Amino acid sequence: MQARAATPADAAAIARIYNQGIEDRVATFETRPRAPRDIAQRAWDDGIHPLVVAEDAGAVVAFASTSTYRPRDCYSGIAEFSVYVAREARGRGAGRVALSALIQAAEAAGYWKLVSRVFPENTASLALCRSLGFREVGRYEKHAQLDGVWRDVIIVERLIPANLAPHGEPAS
Ligand SMILES: CC(C)(COP(=O)(O)OP(=O)(O)OC[C@H]1O[C@@H](n2cnc3c(N)ncnc32)[C@H](O)[C@@H]1OP(=O)(O)O)[C@@H](O)C(=O)NCCC(=O)NCCS
Repeated sequence: MQARAATPADAAAIARIYNQGIEDRVATFETRPRAPRDIAQRAWDDGIHPLVVAEDAGAVVAFASTSTYRPRDCYSGIAEFSVYVAREARGRGAGRVALSALIQAAEAAGYWKLVSRVFPENTASLALCRSLGFREVGRYEKHAQLDGVWRDVIIVERLIPANLAPHGEPAS
């Protein structure tokens, strides 16, 4: 299992994996399946948000991505993250490989924090986050509806110390 930066040629594999996550209703409030062109437009337009894939025997089995947390300048070093593993490959370390690579890429890109929200029932995602140094900040109650049901989410965050200067200044 190896990670690398994603390229536009990975859009179809990423869309397939993301759509499995949407169908399984364990990972996201999204319910609309994505086409490869949706992924390509979203992922490579801005050039500042790392996106990585994990490969097993040459096949893409996972991806991890970052996206904008908030548009305000003061939050420019914070990114939202997502990680998705193909159904057939879950529980074999692909999530760890992909998310570890994303953390490294986010460090190289200068981000000082990654954040996300995870359904409390998503024990696999919470375990993965915990094991890679994420902290559970708290719980948003009834954050949004999925299939007409109000769902809570757990907020997770991970600081990237290399990009935090001692006195709160962004590292140069
Ligand atoms: C959540 C997900 C990304 C985890 O990736 P994965 O490849 O299945 O997990 P890994 O094999 O890398 O395991 C990572 C850690 O999570 C733990 N874990 C994995 N699956 C687990 C499960 N079903 N229950 C409890 N712990 C689990 C592993 O034991 C491991 O812990 P360790 O590092 O302390 O040994 C993956 O299962 C997935 O894509 N699920 C559907 C989409 C999703 O939920 N994405 C996250 C959105 S917030």
